Amino acid sequence: MAAEWDNIGLVIGNPDAKAKGIVVTLDVTDEAIDMAEKTGSNLIIAHHPPIFSPVRKINPGTAGGHIISRLLKSDIAVFVIHTNLDSSPQGLNSHLAKILGLVKTRAVKSEDITYRIGLLSKKTDSLALAKAIKKTLRLTDIRHYGPSRKVSKVAVCSGSGGELLGHALENGAEALITGDVRHHVGVESEILGFPVIDAGHAGTERIMAAYVAEKIKKNLTKSAKRIKIKVFQIKEGYISF
Ligand SMILES: [Fe+2]
Repeated sequence: MAAEWDNIGLVIGNPDAKAKGIVVTLDVTDEAIDMAEKTGSNLIIAHHPPIFSPVRKINPGTAGGHIISRLLKSDIAVFVIHTNLDSSPQGLNSHLAKILGLVKTRAVKSEDITYRIGLLSKKTDSLALAKAIKKTLRLTDIRHYGPSRKVSKVAVCSGSGGELLGHALENGAEALITGDVRHHVGVESEILGFPVIDAGHAGTERIMAAYVAEKIKKNLTKSAKRIKIKVFQIKEGYISF
């Protein structure tokens, strides 16, 4: 289910070690590691891989090197669920679509991204839809590209999905909700009269930690019930004014 370029699974740590406690987070940040240390958790389950391209040097002076060094020093393992979580039928996109009130959603695959297209409960002006999404996802800001249109069939892609504009349009969507929308996508959305709502990369994915923690809790075997599972909720990561 994961994209070919992805790096998922146990990316740091000993596969034979026993989990004492788990922290679930979108990103492996200093604060997420702090939480693991304070709560005696030796496993972090993260969405974004802390190691992506082949590592040639581990220098604590770089962001990646710093995080890897800290994890190794504290003996904390990292297990990544990334594009496999995005595309799973009960994954992040399906959860996001549900939170945003979409019904009758179906998975749509574009090269190596699987997103969802579904229906709003009633035809809604896309600007009003953006306002509602801002509230639902508790965002400090949101962007709406292209003309405001009445829409009912919308595409949802958590994280980075601006490049799906053409694909979503071809597959019958009337608007696209995603994050990381680049300038040229905004221009295309204007030309095509196809609204694109940029709710942010983290804005559309911050729901991951609580969702995954809940799923794990529900599925722990009897002997594993003692494992404490903590949710690390990342902040928006920027100041908007
Ligand atoms: Fe992401």
